[in-house]
Amino acid sequence: MQADPSGKVLLDHIYLQPDPRAYFRTLRDFEYRIPQLAKPYFTDLIEEYRRTQGVTDVTVLDIGCSYGINSALVAHGATMDELYERYGAEELSGHPRSALLARDRDWLESRSTPYERDIRFVGLDSSGPALTYAVEAGLLDDALHADFENDEPTERQREQLTGADLVISTGCLGYVTEKTITRVLAACDGRRPWMAHFVLRMFPFDTISGHLAELGYDTVRADRVFPQRRFASAGEQTRVLETLTEQGIDTQGLEADGWFYAQLFVSRPRDRPRSQPPSAHPTP
Ligand SMILES: C[S@@+](CC[C@H](N)C(=O)[O-])C[C@H]1O[C@@H](n2cnc3c(N)ncnc32)[C@H](O)[C@@H]1O
Repeated sequence: MQADPSGKVLLDHIYLQPDPRAYFRTLRDFEYRIPQLAKPYFTDLIEEYRRTQGVTDVTVLDIGCSYGINSALVAHGATMDELYERYGAEELSGHPRSALLARDRDWLESRSTPYERDIRFVGLDSSGPALTYAVEAGLLDDALHADFENDEPTERQREQLTGADLVISTGCLGYVTEKTITRVLAACDGRRPWMAHFVLRMFPFDTISGHLAELGYDTVRADRVFPQRRFASAGEQTRVLETLTEQGIDTQGLEADGWFYAQLFVSRPRDRPRSQPPSAHPTP
């Protein structure tokens, strides 16, 4: 498997399929679990936002949303185990995409809750096929097919970004940098959405938090780390351990034992009404 400069294997092919089957089959083998671990933190932040801002309806922008995974978990109450079962089952191999979509629409309809109706999920991703699936299935309310690492938002995309109350991500920062974050915020036209990003330890967050500080944000790093997935191979682990060691990061008891680990950075506007820092949720 090919790797990026950090040593992480490139899985781009699974993000570009017309439906999520390859995504879940591949990532199940690596025990990818960060969206599941992120879910209670996102839910808490949404509740804190609602409470302190005195609103019920919120719009969440998910950067690198892929097939709408965080939306499935946070807005529709699904679990990663359920999604692995749903899309990873062997008997689905011969099914056409249209059958999968119909099945998903029925499924989402059957689990519609008041919580879901008050939360709008907007997905941003550079993968058109993933976004198309998520919107057609009803997993996303709106989508931006864009790469703000390389392009400025169009007028239409600025309009889509303007209403974001919270900006979240799992497994995407590192692919995207301060360029995307600052372009998203510039499009928000003075509004400052709250942010929660789960970022692998090998991708420094300092540059992003520096830009956010200039824009009036305080950033807090949660005081625990989160297992993201198993290394895909011994080679990937060796290369990533080298990358971490070069940065002076101690990998003992963490990456040295076979897993990628992520950190959570929560950024809120400095002048917001005060409230509690992110609560600790036990690893399931
Ligand atoms: C590892 S996946 C994470 C997907 C999902 N958030 C999750 O945790 O399951 C990374 C996603 O980032 C997207 N991505 C990569 N580069 C991007 C860019 N420059 N702008 C937007 N999305 C990008 C990929 O298409 C892919 O869907």
